[in-house]
Amino acid sequence: MGADNQDVVLLAIESSCDETAAAVVKNGREVFSNVIYSQIALHTQYGGVVPEIASRKHIEKINQVIEQALSDAGKTLQELDGIAVTYGPGLVGALLVGVSEAKAISFATGLPLIGVHHIEGHISANYIENKELEPPFVCLVASGGHSHLVVVKDYGKYEIIGRTRDDAAGEAFDKVARAIGLGYPGGPKIDKLSKEGNPDAIQFPRARVNESEYDFSFSGLKSAVLNYLNGCQMKGMAVNRADVAASFQKAVIDVLVEHSIHAVKEFGYDKFAIAGGVASNSSLRKAFEVRCKQEGIMFYHPSPIYCTDNAAMIGAAGYYEFIRGARSGYDLNAVPGLKLGARE
Ligand code: KG4
Ligand code: ZN
Repeated sequence: MGADNQDVVLLAIESSCDETAAAVVKNGREVFSNVIYSQIALHTQYGGVVPEIASRKHIEKINQVIEQALSDAGKTLQELDGIAVTYGPGLVGALLVGVSEAKAISFATGLPLIGVHHIEGHISANYIENKELEPPFVCLVASGGHSHLVVVKDYGKYEIIGRTRDDAAGEAFDKVARAIGLGYPGGPKIDKLSKEGNPDAIQFPRARVNESEYDFSFSGLKSAVLNYLNGCQMKGMAVNRADVAASFQKAVIDVLVEHSIHAVKEFGYDKFAIAGGVASNSSLRKAFEVRCKQEGIMFYHPSPIYCTDNAAMIGAAGYYEFIRGARSGYDLNAVPGLKLGARE
């Protein structure tokens, strides 16, 4: 091992969507460096992530980002114990850049390679700043591609108890933001504009999925917002964008909070965490804080920088894989539709 004791220091790489990121993390909880090159500005002009452009930019930036992460951490590759990399789910071309890079470094240095699931990374982001947090707990993962309610039974052991039937929560934020002319990415823009609006101005629907009390559905809500905007246009009514943003946001948060708290209580846990880009939403964090306090549930959340895509979270998840002996071979491939809990 590179370290002089039992410590495990990993280089982590993340390139599943539009962030090229690298981090150096010790024992899954201590972040030595966390470098993120965000491509958001590049994709904004297209109103969303363009996969081909994302892949090309990852190739251009990845070496620079890794060198920066090593230099910020004051580490050389020889001082590390392994390389963790996201291998799915995500955009195939984007994932391949990180996976190929990690394999090349592993081959050149002999350092072990650990393939990491992106969502396991998001969940594990909670370990970084909550040193006392240990499974079991319930986690809501709400990102641009996923809205999952997950029971984290143990490190690396997950059970999905609820999922979205259509749009992910972040996707709904992005689509509604586009409809009211806020641009990409919608989440942070709706978050900001909502502070100037009345969340009770417009009654948007809170969807229930009949067969499962823990599943989500956001496409009806998105349609309701579009119908409201069309209705205003037809009647020649001015749209108060801040009220629309705040009312939409409240409808999303109400459903996320209700389903999550119900799950924590029904399944008998006393700890609850949030993860993913949407978890950085300020009103959502406040709503969960208040509700968990009322219910006597311990509430955990990462700082916003560890909610949206980053490599430190991959280093956190990778550590628990590393210590249970998981190693990937040079046949590690990008798996765009990788299931949570699936082991290669
Ligand atoms: O986790 P993430 O960075 O990437 C994925 O794995 O998808 O999540 C990105 C998503 C986007 O849909 C973005 O609009 C949303 O997270 N998001 C937010 C906020 N910040 C990012 N949604 C609501 N409020 C925010 N403050
Ligand atoms: Zn993500």
